[in-house]
Amino acid sequence: MPIDFEKITSLAKRRGFFFQGSEIYGGLNGTWDYGPLGVELLKNVKQAWWRAMVQMRDDIVGVDSAILLNPEVWRASGHLENFTDPLVDCKECKMRWRADHLEGDRCPNCGGELTEPRQFNLMFKTFVGPVEGDAAVVYLRPETAQGIFVDFKAIQGMTRKRLPFGIAQQGKSFRNEISPGNSIFRSREFEQMECEYFVRPEQAELAYRSWVLERYNWYLSLGMKPESLRLREHEQSELSHYSAGTTDVEFLYPWGWGELEGIANRTDFDLRRHSEFSGKDLSYVDETTSEKSYPYVIEPAAGATRSALAFMCDAYDEAVVNGEQRTFLRLHKSLAPYKVAVLPLSKKENLSAVARQVEKSLRPHFMITYDETQSIGKRYARQDEIGTPYCVTVDFDSLEDHAVTIRERDSMAQERVPIAELVPALREKLED
Ligand code: GAP
Repeated sequence: MPIDFEKITSLAKRRGFFFQGSEIYGGLNGTWDYGPLGVELLKNVKQAWWRAMVQMRDDIVGVDSAILLNPEVWRASGHLENFTDPLVDCKECKMRWRADHLEGDRCPNCGGELTEPRQFNLMFKTFVGPVEGDAAVVYLRPETAQGIFVDFKAIQGMTRKRLPFGIAQQGKSFRNEISPGNSIFRSREFEQMECEYFVRPEQAELAYRSWVLERYNWYLSLGMKPESLRLREHEQSELSHYSAGTTDVEFLYPWGWGELEGIANRTDFDLRRHSEFSGKDLSYVDETTSEKSYPYVIEPAAGATRSALAFMCDAYDEAVVNGEQRTFLRLHKSLAPYKVAVLPLSKKENLSAVARQVEKSLRPHFMITYDETQSIGKRYARQDEIGTPYCVTVDFDSLEDHAVTIRERDSMAQERVPIAELVPALREKLED
């Protein structure tokens, strides 16, 4: 049974995951702010990706390239020419629509007649320096990938990596989407996590297939339900201008299946084009034969912000507890914004003092929160709703036995643990 998306967006806003950007000025369409919990979730998603893609592998290194690149980059990459969506205007109400997202041939808002589609470039333009004019135009990057291609030769030289090897990058990308929507699913400013994996041309097909599986399994390893995921290979007519093959990892969003990540075989398109346009030789020299050639590139390209949304949707659950309807965010422990909540059973001074001591001892080790307002039942419910995997309760017995109760979110099982052993006990639970 698909969940109501309104429940996710209202939880996101109420508890500080994400909400409309510039809200006090009426917002700015397609921009979103990540609140105290959203920033933690997003950071954890990116950290999990970095760990899997860079830290755990000897064949991938990281980079953080500039967002503003020489505009020639976008001519070489084909984005100036091809990074467009078909735009139609309603002749009656003047609303604008993405032609390939419309079901009929009339305006969805007023039923009016639509103009013929025209191609609209999605890159945001701005100017460098104090002069506004064609000579000063630069673009906000619409993908992190190009920063990797322009640094390919330099990084290969610095690291002396041999094929096959990859370069990974995370960061902001910008697209002037015609119809941003479904909250952070399609926004105008968002974060990507991309890897360009360079291989010998004859290894490209195998590498492409194995990256598709590798990336699909990454979502499962972070607790995503298998029934929420599927793979979809692009038809020839759907392929981007650079791609010889693309498979999307799709997620079952509350409104239906949609893209979560794309894995593409970009061939040698980018390195060849950047060599041609920059006049710099970006070919790879074979270590044994000294022959030069352009590697092929397999690109797993994920959205960090879109993944955060998908993980939230997948983790959202409702259950009746003691006759009361309750909300749970059953996030994987490594993604949960807070790992532990410290909750004194009452606000009484002698309990608070011990609870504050416990809080102090946990802070250097875990991302934690402290809450002493309202009943303990309400506080458990508040933590379940934001996905905190463990609550530590300090009660009156703690004053005598110097022990506390650890309560687990999903099973609600409770375990008494001496305060002196709390850090290793929680570490073991969080790492298992
Ligand atoms: N370098 C290839 C590339 O950028 P893409 O399929 O256009 O490929 C990769 O983008 C991922 O970036 C998508 O699968 C999606 O997760 C995310 N993404 C793309 N456009 C987005 C948008 N407007 N808002 C949020 N995420 C977006």
